[in-house]
Amino acid sequence: MTIWTELLTRAEAVTTRRIAELFENGNRAAEFTCESGPFAFDYSKTNIDATALDLLVRLAEGADLASKREAMFSGAKINETEGRAVLHTALRNLSHPVCVDGEDVMPKVRKTHARMVGFARDVRDGRFAGQGGAITDVVNIGIGGSDLGPAMATLALAPYHDGPRCHFVSNVDGAHIHDTLKGLNPETTLVIVASKTFTTIETMTNAETARRWMAQTVKDPAAQFAALSTASDKTAAFGIHPARVFGFEDWVGGRYSMWGPIGLSLMLAIGPEQFDAMLRGAAAMDAHFRAAPLVQNLPVLLALVGIWHNQFCGYATRAVLPYDQRLSRLPAYLQQLEMESNGKRVSMDGAELPYHSGPVVWGEPGTNGQHAFYQLIHQGTRVIPCEFMLAAEGHEPDLAHQHLLLAANCLAQSEALMRGRSLAEATEIMRKKGLTGAELERQARHRVFPGSRPSTTLLYPKLTPEVFGGIVALYEHRVFVEGVILGINSFDQWGVELGKELALALAPVLEGTSDGAGKDGSTLALAARVRALRG
Ligand code: F6P
Repeated sequence: MTIWTELLTRAEAVTTRRIAELFENGNRAAEFTCESGPFAFDYSKTNIDATALDLLVRLAEGADLASKREAMFSGAKINETEGRAVLHTALRNLSHPVCVDGEDVMPKVRKTHARMVGFARDVRDGRFAGQGGAITDVVNIGIGGSDLGPAMATLALAPYHDGPRCHFVSNVDGAHIHDTLKGLNPETTLVIVASKTFTTIETMTNAETARRWMAQTVKDPAAQFAALSTASDKTAAFGIHPARVFGFEDWVGGRYSMWGPIGLSLMLAIGPEQFDAMLRGAAAMDAHFRAAPLVQNLPVLLALVGIWHNQFCGYATRAVLPYDQRLSRLPAYLQQLEMESNGKRVSMDGAELPYHSGPVVWGEPGTNGQHAFYQLIHQGTRVIPCEFMLAAEGHEPDLAHQHLLLAANCLAQSEALMRGRSLAEATEIMRKKGLTGAELERQARHRVFPGSRPSTTLLYPKLTPEVFGGIVALYEHRVFVEGVILGINSFDQWGVELGKELALALAPVLEGTSDGAGKDGSTLALAARVRALRG
């Protein structure tokens, strides 16, 4: 029997067992909690037991995780379909040499980092100014990895924000840039065009709109533009001076890029010192991931729990539920990180996967989600593993009582999911309320919670830049480990190409300059309706 089959058998044997029963013997909470640095990851409220854990670790070993992890850190070209190294870790570990094609890439990384720091200081101190004086607002124009990371991080680290206001425009829907620019003064605004390729249609269209907006009052709009890109020829063609172009290499994937130039808007917001603290937190997670034994390794454990639920228990989605309002964009960020990375149907050698790709990831911050979709998580017919996240302390000492309520809610949810409420308990509650007979029976049934629903909790002291950096790096490595176990390439994204190509071909159909020959009836009919409604 292969380990995969053994795990399937094990999952079948244990998924009907009550998770709560696992706590009857021994010290399960301690045994199934992994600690590293500021983090404690509790996965005791799952159906994973010692046997399953052992099999899962053997699965990771069998996938050659240790050597693949080393290959990534040391600059091997593990993104085989694009022939690229995967070195976002080099952006946050600024002291160690890392070679790609025999060349140490770190001097260039450090140089760019130093240029970013210099520029950020100039903007923050007013040495770099717009036509109307010191920069008050920064507009980051980018999409996907060139937007989600810095947008999420800027919100997460709001308590450290002492620089210009930052805005993020991503959607090609003109409403987005219109509503963003509406309240801004072009003479004190810096526009950052963030695009690894500098070809993405949404970003380039919005960048041109922003330039036109600025040109209405600013004599030299290009002087108030900066670019973050690997394509210096294209940034030059757009007219952005090389002094304000911050480049990076193709070994930084878009969704892994917030640690370098793509993080410039964040650096402007919180300053280079706090930005570097975030890098240190991520580097500490890298060091832990690289060295800790698999069974005490946070990203590995997070991945193994994910694989267990998705592949062996058959749970197709997972909910990420930060009890941390400032992580409200984390689920959206993780949707790209996890689903663009591990939403693949073939393995590295091109063969179709004999199992599912990565799961659907979704979520919202608690407690808001409790008043929206938790009903389904508690009483729906599908099991949804939940990943809770909680800071022990908030940034608002005068609102500590609110944080306590937040924490109580977080712990209560994982407790309720595991424990449930039996028919006997529900009946007793309703009997005490005075119900009897058939009505008692009927009402009680609606109040039953099946329980035994799995969840994990990631606990940390406070959402500081270091902790935040660690959380994001933790999830990045989790994605890598799941990808290695599934045998897929987590670093390409061919699945986004077809839609892009078809959108380009459809624009002339909507304009009425092409008849759309060869297109299906539904698409042509919808295009005709759009044309008719536009008048
Ligand atoms: O949607 C595909 C994608 O290539 C993402 O991987 C990337 O983060 C995003 O588009 C933006 O790309 P770019 O930074 O090149 O504009």
